[in-house]
Amino acid sequence: MDNIAGSPVEGANFFGRDKEAARLADILVNDDILLLGPRRIGKTSIARAVMAQLRTQGWSAIEINVASCIDERGFLDKLDAALAPELATISEKARNLIGNALSAVGSRIKSIKLPIPGTGGIGVDIKDGIAEEWAAVACDVLRLIGQAENNWLIYVDELPIMLFNIMRNDPATGVQRVRRFLDWLRNDVRGLPGAHAVRWLISGSVGLDTLVQQHGMADTINSLSHQSLPAFKDEVAIAMLKELAAHYVIPLTPDDARSLVEAVQWPQPYYLQVAFHHLRTLVSSHADEDMRALIAQAVDIMVQPGSDNDFYHWEQRLHQQLLQTDASHAMALLNLCSQDRQGARPEALLAVIEDRLPHALPEVTRRIFINLHDILERDAYWWPDDSSGVKRYRFRLEPLRRWWLRRNTL
Ligand SMILES: Nc1ncnc2c1ncn2[C@@H]1O[C@H](COP(=O)(O)OP(=O)(O)OP(=O)(O)O)[C@@H](O)[C@H]1O
Ligand SMILES: [Mg+2]
Repeated sequence: MDNIAGSPVEGANFFGRDKEAARLADILVNDDILLLGPRRIGKTSIARAVMAQLRTQGWSAIEINVASCIDERGFLDKLDAALAPELATISEKARNLIGNALSAVGSRIKSIKLPIPGTGGIGVDIKDGIAEEWAAVACDVLRLIGQAENNWLIYVDELPIMLFNIMRNDPATGVQRVRRFLDWLRNDVRGLPGAHAVRWLISGSVGLDTLVQQHGMADTINSLSHQSLPAFKDEVAIAMLKELAAHYVIPLTPDDARSLVEAVQWPQPYYLQVAFHHLRTLVSSHADEDMRALIAQAVDIMVQPGSDNDFYHWEQRLHQQLLQTDASHAMALLNLCSQDRQGARPEALLAVIEDRLPHALPEVTRRIFINLHDILERDAYWWPDDSSGVKRYRFRLEPLRRWWLRRNTL
């Protein structure tokens, strides 16, 4: 197993989540999946493992990453481009049936007209307008692939980023268009003949759930099966580190591996890979030093300037998905929480909001705190720990806490 820290992993480098991938593949037989989670927790890797499994069962599977799409046409372009090579792999009969028709779709996609951002469109109901063209073309594409004899998985990565792009570029009708897109996915697509043959796996790292809640469209994603990626159990994390150590011939005992897992505290494979990477570099230059001391140094390096790129997105994500005032309340809560590895008491955290809003009614500050503690828990910043008999909100990822603290220290 290679020490890869960054790109999605496949095959022998995909560790410890085969059962999880099989579980997701099983859900996809009957349902579509929404897989949301922080960056780097392995969403793309597991989605590819699911695609590989379903292919062995005769499915066709395509992947589109829509992070760079700024509108519905961009989405369709990606879909069209991914379908062409996949068509080559299906039966000749099906290919003949849908191939030509699909190749004609490309030019229709190019000619779709969309509201031009910034030019108003205020008050225009996009359902009646030309913008509806894209939905018709999109349905035609799906109707075509539904005619092939096999099942299809369409894996759409980073959908929330595309939806945020649409809203940002089109302040006048962006929200309506996002609602329409999600409605299309939920209703139009389901109504197509052959819809049962097409399944969706949608993933992303920016809170689609926050977006839909804020704009009152939570109903649009209700029909998706919501899934997340829990961290490894300690034993799995230790087994992965042992395998990496064996590959790079590093004398790591199970207790050493355990101490590394404890230092990371939230054993998502990415953070183990990063810590191991630093350890590997240290071992090569300080071979005679005590392994525990090197492990502590490796985890220290993760939070230092220059090696800490991974933590910035945790901060950015708050600003991307929350209103400005909420984002700064959340920052203040996390600042307090980061001061102690054991976290902070809810009363102390509520007091942070009260200090920031001295004129607000108690029920208002309470509501704000409750909303934010839910969001921060759901997005894996912190978790409520009551193992000591007293509830404390504490960071999940210990290196992130240390980074947060360092960034708020003069
Ligand atoms: N099953 C796994 N086994 C080993 N390492 C893994 C596994 N899953 C993820 N990783 C580690 O996490 C890194 C990121 O994985 P991946 O790109 O799949 O995550 P992601 O959630 O899609 O990230 P992003 O949000 O940045 O797109 C990999 O480079 C690897 O270090
Ligand atoms: Mg990814």
